[in-house]
Amino acid sequence: MRTVNKDNVTEVFLSYFGDNTDPRFREVMSSLATHLHDFAREVNLTHAEWNKAIEFFVATGNITTPERNEFVLLSDVMGLSSLVDMINSSEGGTSSSVLGPFHISGAPPLAVGADMKRDFDGEVVLWEGVVRGPDGAPIEGAEVDIWQTAPNGLYSSQDPDQDTYSFHGLMTTGADGRYALTTVRPVSYTVPTDGPVGQILDAAGRHPWRPSHLHLIVKAEGYRDLVSEVFPNDDPYLDEDTVFGVREDLVIQYVSQPAGSFPDGFELSGKVTDAYSRVDFDLVLIPS
Ligand code: BEZ
Ligand code: FE
Repeated sequence: MRTVNKDNVTEVFLSYFGDNTDPRFREVMSSLATHLHDFAREVNLTHAEWNKAIEFFVATGNITTPERNEFVLLSDVMGLSSLVDMINSSEGGTSSSVLGPFHISGAPPLAVGADMKRDFDGEVVLWEGVVRGPDGAPIEGAEVDIWQTAPNGLYSSQDPDQDTYSFHGLMTTGADGRYALTTVRPVSYTVPTDGPVGQILDAAGRHPWRPSHLHLIVKAEGYRDLVSEVFPNDDPYLDEDTVFGVREDLVIQYVSQPAGSFPDGFELSGKVTDAYSRVDFDLVLIPS
C-alpha cells in the first residue's frame, strides 16, 4: 500500500491516468494539477480559504446567465483571457485583444463611408483604414464587424434607451480593401462590479475601468479571423486596463481637423461643418 502524503500527492495523481487518455487532455490536466498542488503547498492553503474559494465559484456560477458569463469576466480580470490571446496571436499581423461580452451577431450592413453616430451627441470622428495581408496588399471582401459604447458609456445591450444595433455595424471591403465610417469617441467604462468578480477587484484594491476602445472582428477568406480593439493614446486608463487588453500596435491618435474640412465620399459629407477628429488604422490579417 502506498501512503499518500503532501509531498507525493501530485505524483500519485499523475499515476491515476488511464492508458487511453487523450494525450492533450493528459498534458493539460497533469500540468494543472501540478501547479494547483504546488500553489496550495506554497501558500499553506487553509480550510477556511479553500471554503471561501468554493463559495466564490458557486456564486460565480449562480450569477452566470446566457447574457452574463461571470466566469469569462473572472478570466478577463485575472489576465488569463489576454494571456490566451497573446499565446495564440499570429506574428506579423494586427494584435488580437479580448472579445468582451457585448458583441452581438447580426449587425446591420454598413456601406463603406456610412455613419454610426446617428443622432448621438459628440464630436464626429472619421475613422478609416485598409484591410491588408502581411505583404501590404489590400484584401477585397473582408468583413469588418464593429461595435462600441455610446457616449453614455453603455453598449446597446446594456441600455434600454438604445436600438438593438446602435453603434454596431458590419462593413465589407471593396477591391481597395478600405473600410471607413463616422462615429463618436467611445468612452472609458467599468466592467460589471455587482457580482463576485467585483468583490475580488475590491479586495485586491483594483479599479474596474477599461480605457475607451472600438471593437473589431475582421474575417476574410484565406485569412485567420482577427478579434481586436483599438485604444486612444490619451486615455487615462491606457496603462491600467483591468482586463489587460492594450497592445502597442492597437493604440491610435484622434487627430483634430479644422471646421469646414470634412471630405467627400461619406454619408455625412456636406453635413459636418464643425471641427472633427480623424483616425487612420490599417488592419493586417495573417493567412490561415
Ligand atoms: C469589453 O471590452 O466590452 C469587455 C471586455 C472584458 C470584460 C468586460 C467588458
Ligand atoms: Fe468593450
